[in-house]
Amino acid sequence: MEMGRRPIGELSAAEIRELVREKYSEVVLHPATKYRFRVGHQYALDLGYQQNETKGLPKVLMESFTGVSSYLARFQEFQPGETVLELGSGGGLDTALLARKVGCSGKVIGLDLSLAMLQRAAPGSKQAGISQVYFNQALAEELPVASGSVDWVVSNGIFNLSSEKERILEEIHRVLRPGGRVLCSEIVLQRQPTIEERLNEDDWFK
Ligand SMILES: C[S@@+](CC[C@H](N)C(=O)[O-])C[C@H]1O[C@@H](n2cnc3c(N)ncnc32)[C@H](O)[C@@H]1O
Repeated sequence: MEMGRRPIGELSAAEIRELVREKYSEVVLHPATKYRFRVGHQYALDLGYQQNETKGLPKVLMESFTGVSSYLARFQEFQPGETVLELGSGGGLDTALLARKVGCSGKVIGLDLSLAMLQRAAPGSKQAGISQVYFNQALAEELPVASGSVDWVVSNGIFNLSSEKERILEEIHRVLRPGGRVLCSEIVLQRQPTIEERLNEDDWFK
C-alpha cells in the first residue's frame, strides 16, 4: 500500500465521495493525464459516439468525457418537451446531446458532486448555444429535486463510484413521475476483486 493511502474497506461513504470528487475534479484540470480509466473525445468515439452527433459541440464538452458507454442507440426514445435528470453529468457531453433531443420545450438538469466538472460543463453548453440545461452541485444520494417531477433519470458511470447504490436507486424512484423512465450505463464486476486489487484508495477507480 502507498504511504498515506488507506484500504478501501476503512473508508466511510462520505470519504469515498470525497475521493471521487477529488479524482474527477483533477480530470477536469488535467484531462490528458493517464488515469486508470479513459478520458476524452477519442474515448467517446471508441465507445460508439458518432462524429455527426458530436459535430459542432465545443471541445470543452468532450475533453473531460469519462462515461462508460454511449447512450446514442437509445436517444430516439427521448421526446421533445421531456424533463431529463442526469446524475453525474461530468463534462457535459451527454447533457448537451440530451438537451438537443428534448429541444427548447424540454429541459435537462445536470447534477454532479464536482464543482470543477460543473464549471466546465456550464460554459461549454452555453458556448454550444444550448439554453435548456440547468447544472447544480448535488449528490445522487440526496437529490434536490421534487418528488414525481421528471420524465427520465439518466446516468453514465456513477453507480460504480458510490458505496450507497441503494440510496441512489431510492432517490431515482422518488423523483420520477409515474411512468417515468431510467437509462443508466454502468460497469459491473464479473468477480469479486481480490484483497490485492483493493488495497488503497486509487483501487476504487479501475
Ligand atoms: C465516470 S464520470 C462520468 C461523467 C459523465 N457522465 C460522462 O459521461 O462523462 C462520473 C461523474 O459522476 C460524478 N459523481 C460520482 N459520484 C457521484 C455522486 N454520488 N453524486 C453526484 N455526482 C457523482 C463525478 O464527479 C463524475 O463527474
